Amino acid sequence: MQEIIEKIENAKNLDEIEKIRVELFGKKGVITAGFARLKDIPNEEKKAFAENLNIQRDTFNARILEKKEILEKEFIKSKMKSDGVDITLFNEPLSSGAIHPVMATMDKIIEYFVAQNFSVETGPLIEDDFHNFEALNLPKYHPARDMQDTFYLKDFRLLRTHTSPVQVRTMLKEKPPIRMIAPGSVFRRDLDLTHTPMFHQVEGLVVEDESKVSFANLKYILEDFLRYMFGDVKVRFRPSFFPFTEPSTEVDISCIFCGGKGCRVCKQTGWLEVLGSGVVDPNVFKAVGYKNVSGYAFGLGVERFAMLLHQIPDLRSLFEGDIRLLEQFK
Ligand code: DAH
Repeated sequence: MQEIIEKIENAKNLDEIEKIRVELFGKKGVITAGFARLKDIPNEEKKAFAENLNIQRDTFNARILEKKEILEKEFIKSKMKSDGVDITLFNEPLSSGAIHPVMATMDKIIEYFVAQNFSVETGPLIEDDFHNFEALNLPKYHPARDMQDTFYLKDFRLLRTHTSPVQVRTMLKEKPPIRMIAPGSVFRRDLDLTHTPMFHQVEGLVVEDESKVSFANLKYILEDFLRYMFGDVKVRFRPSFFPFTEPSTEVDISCIFCGGKGCRVCKQTGWLEVLGSGVVDPNVFKAVGYKNVSGYAFGLGVERFAMLLHQIPDLRSLFEGDIRLLEQFK
């Protein structure tokens, strides 16, 4: 036994130790053969023989494992030396992606409205005149069409200029009551410091039986939503105009940068405009054949929300795909 233990101790590398292991425990190994012989041993010697064999097996096994571990470490060490690997060097951390701030903001907006029982609807990016304009009380030659510079296709279809056509599609597809949002990309012929030809909106529409919803419902949900997004802000409803709502209102929050005192971002007004909304114009219901209903609608720009939330000064940085911007949003 001592002889074998010494042999194990003196093994110089992993190959040698493996050879010893096979000699002992392989199919034709000494220990394996010992166990095979057990049945031929006279009964009175059997117990002592087996006990002895077990001890040998356990001892050799333990020694082999110990020695193997030592040899493995030595092997790795010598390999690293010969390969010239400096294990004290820091590894470059793997770079991983991040959710784009516009999409993260969109998700946060969607989360709020889904929790308020709104369904999430989608519509095509290539629209026709009826859904994008006509049904939204924007007849041909209506001056309000100039508010939105449209990309037209050769066949007079167009890239949707807002997510409002999804209101129309949903109303045509379903019956009231309706409680929906429509997130998505929209397109306008516009490019400057504060405009990109593609950007994102989230539209909202609620339709109920006549006199079941009013401006008060709109006011409540938008105030609650804006506080969910921006924290403890004041919310102000300012009269405005949209063809598809009457009355229409633009919604402002107290400036989150100066707390309403006036600063560069809010142009010293103390307020930031964040969305458009209003009570659905009867002409919109007429266009989709709805009678005896009431409703409210709203629409917001996701990039603007993202910029305010993360204090991103330049809209264009959201579209440059610069990994250094994304890395700040992990
Ligand atoms: N569609 C409008 C725009 O793109 C935003 C909007 C304003 C949507 C008021 C609405 C609304 O549904 O009620 O500027």
